Amino acid sequence: MSEKLTANLVIDKHNNIAEIDERIYGSFIEHLGRAVYGGIYEPSHPKSDNQGFRTDVIDLVKELQVPIVRYPGGNMVSSYNWEDGIGDKHQRPNRLELAWRTIETNQVGVNEFMDWSNKVNTNVMMAINLGTRGIDDARNLIEYTNHPGNTYWSELRKSHGYESPHNIKTWCLGNEMDGPWQVGQMTPTEYGRIAKETAKAMKLVDPSIELVSCGSSNSSMPTFPEWESITLDHTYDEVDYVSLHQYYTNYENDPANFLAKNMDMDNFIKTVISTCDYIKAKHRSKKTINLSFDEWNVWYHSINDDKMIEPWSIAPPQLEDHYNFEDALLVGSMLITFLKHADRVKMASLAQLVNVIAPIMTENNGGSWKQTIFYPFMHASIYGRGISLYPLLHSPKYDSKDFTDVPYIDSASVYNKEKEELTIFLVNKHLTEDITLTSDLRSFDDYYLVEHIVLENSDLKAVNTIHHQNVKPHNNGCSSLESGRLTSSLAKTSWNVIRLKK
Ligand code: AHR
Repeated sequence: MSEKLTANLVIDKHNNIAEIDERIYGSFIEHLGRAVYGGIYEPSHPKSDNQGFRTDVIDLVKELQVPIVRYPGGNMVSSYNWEDGIGDKHQRPNRLELAWRTIETNQVGVNEFMDWSNKVNTNVMMAINLGTRGIDDARNLIEYTNHPGNTYWSELRKSHGYESPHNIKTWCLGNEMDGPWQVGQMTPTEYGRIAKETAKAMKLVDPSIELVSCGSSNSSMPTFPEWESITLDHTYDEVDYVSLHQYYTNYENDPANFLAKNMDMDNFIKTVISTCDYIKAKHRSKKTINLSFDEWNVWYHSINDDKMIEPWSIAPPQLEDHYNFEDALLVGSMLITFLKHADRVKMASLAQLVNVIAPIMTENNGGSWKQTIFYPFMHASIYGRGISLYPLLHSPKYDSKDFTDVPYIDSASVYNKEKEELTIFLVNKHLTEDITLTSDLRSFDDYYLVEHIVLENSDLKAVNTIHHQNVKPHNNGCSSLESGRLTSSLAKTSWNVIRLKK
């Protein structure tokens, strides 16, 4: 008989990484596939409100408590004319949308999206087009959205029924501008120059905004991290964040290696932090640039289906990955990675939110449902607010195809001072063994155990559908607390949320 695997964790309320910026639970809606049309917006749907927004989707988004949503792209923004989406809906043009080769009807634009964001209690992270357009477009857009009045663009907004400015605070300076797939791809020097000058103009219109400089499209780009170094050299004084994007796949069907991929994300984050700090030192600057991980997820299931889609159709089902249980585990581990970097990762966007590589799915003129990845994201968003504590963890380890010394257990702990709550997030990546975890809770000895939530399934490939929630959490996890010592049995391949309260 093999010996039972064990792990140890020490959690101390004084060992703080940082206050968590709630915006790490952000998400993303692009004018792509059925994210907008047939996702958040479907005027003919019986559950749509008087503006055409689906109330069933609004309710699901609210369950996730998403504090910020990136919009309108993505690759789409690089050939987008924001002016096409304002004013009388009957006068709005159909356009060829070049990134995804569809027809954009412009029935939703900036004003409608701001209305939707208010309905779901979120803020908007607005991306500007630095592909086909530039400084002029950006300064006009921010005058339209943020200037109170008495100018051409602000008065036009008022004439469209929006008396008060939207006051959008967070802006992305383009999207993935190093990518050969991007309309208007640039060299780092070209991007650095245009981003700096656009940032200057936008901050002249509204000095209260914050700006995200485009980082590499992912860590495998040939120019990473030279791109960050060169572009930040130009933009350092004007911007506040640099963006990171990363998606993971399991084409090889190697679950042990797949579940270790948040180690790659961890290295990516560390390299970008070092690059930002190198430029900080080079500029003798007192300012620190933080990280906006504004696209992340698993993405690969839908790639072949997408090849079958006819170009120039309206809202076709693009990038509709059906997530399985192992995808939810990696999403959980990626969230844990953000929490461990709470001192520098201040924003993140799960890409995306509805239908397109998304936790929420809809049927046109039908129902809506939760994918497997909905659950770890919801748990982290609801319970992962407060202070991220250093996880002193001793876990057994394994080697996989691409990684060595992968801890079987991933863990992050969040202390919410106001609510007097402690939440421990854990993933057990072991494919066959439960692991017994002993946690020394020291300074939390006057806390009691509220619940141990578990997401588990005997089939790593199990998926949810509109009819069956095959993968959903229960709160019968096996944990007991005695004199500040928590003993938990972490089921093989499971996501765990252990909640304690004073
Ligand atoms: O999220 C889907 C796409 O992935 C985005 O449009 C782009 O920025 C990234 O390559």
